[in-house]
Amino acid sequence: MDFDFDAVIDRRRTNCTKWDMMERYFGASSENDLAMWVADMDFLPPPAVNATLQKMIDHGIHGYFGDDTAYRSASVNWMDQRHDWRVEPDAISTVNGLVHGIGLCLDAYTAPDDEIIIFTPVYHAFSARIQACGRKVVEAPLVLRDGMFHLDLETLESRLSGRERMLIFCSPHNPGGRVWSVAEFASIAHFCERHDLILLSDEVHHDLVFEGFSHTPMVNAAPKQIDRIVMLSAASKTFNLAGGETGQVIIPNADLRHKFEASNKAFGSTPNRFGPMMSTAAYAHGAPWLDALLRYLDGNRAAVEDGLNEIPGVSVMPMGATYLSWIEFSGTGMNQDEIRERVQNRAGVVCNYGPTFGTGGETCLRLNFATPRSRVAEAVTRIQDAFSDLQ
Ligand SMILES: Cc1ncc(COP(=O)(O)O)c(C=O)c1O
Repeated sequence: MDFDFDAVIDRRRTNCTKWDMMERYFGASSENDLAMWVADMDFLPPPAVNATLQKMIDHGIHGYFGDDTAYRSASVNWMDQRHDWRVEPDAISTVNGLVHGIGLCLDAYTAPDDEIIIFTPVYHAFSARIQACGRKVVEAPLVLRDGMFHLDLETLESRLSGRERMLIFCSPHNPGGRVWSVAEFASIAHFCERHDLILLSDEVHHDLVFEGFSHTPMVNAAPKQIDRIVMLSAASKTFNLAGGETGQVIIPNADLRHKFEASNKAFGSTPNRFGPMMSTAAYAHGAPWLDALLRYLDGNRAAVEDGLNEIPGVSVMPMGATYLSWIEFSGTGMNQDEIRERVQNRAGVVCNYGPTFGTGGETCLRLNFATPRSRVAEAVTRIQDAFSDLQ
């Protein structure tokens, strides 16, 4: 079956974040500038998703969501078939998006002023949520080797205060799309066991892995006795359903699950109708769409890498997953203001600013290439032109 990822669909004036909030957040023009920032895609989801929504609209009544058996079962089948991961249906708690799920985990497992470890540069909502919950961020900077991110647990270990309670891991990594190895998973799991930390493994990008790379769920990679893992997953990134605000917190350990559920209950969170219904349809029928999407995204990845690596002093991190490329400008000698001036103001390409992701992002931008190839090509040309004096 063919899916038309080349179709350019105008998303402006649809109340979307990516295009309609560019002006407010970045001072950019949604008429002329290209939105290549927040992590959603400019593609239609698998056809079964909109068919499901159409059925809901045809029926027309949008009361409370109830029976989630089909949703759990579609999720369990997906994890089994795509990830060789056996999930107990009862181990799944549904949350209103994973940022919400992270907040609930912080509430369930940590107390004010506790310290939470994150590997920077990393998805900015981790530190935002930790701080908003009155906990402290402990940055463990990733180190660069061969242009790729690597963990440095030795340095982290030497700096521990003893007040750390949780570690949030991003796998595959956002930004930059690093697919971690089984050995790296095991080292993280052992680290958490040694220091009595809850291990939150955010694997929302787990389906967006390119050919030649393979993602392993943390629970499969960690030694069985390390039973302190909370898995975060969702259909949202995979199938472009982020507006459904639906995520899964999957907790194999019953005690940890009950603690989490107590927080979930305390805040009265219940899923909306649309997210679980869309996710069910996508998990049940979306595999061919996803396979086609991955081939398309891989082509976009190559276009970004080939095009931007031509600019002297600019390098795109080689990536195995996600559509969120990490572009390092340090070789140009420019600081973040100069980089923004060129990429955003001259080229008119709106990316996420590197420093938002924490230490290590000072001279970087994150560029979202999940958009039709013609737009990726235009963005690459515009950025090349904005640095043409360096050629
Ligand atoms: C690693 C990671 N976790 C969570 C999220 C957001 O999840 P949600 O939209 O379900 O809150 C993102 C979005 O980009 C992400 O990259």
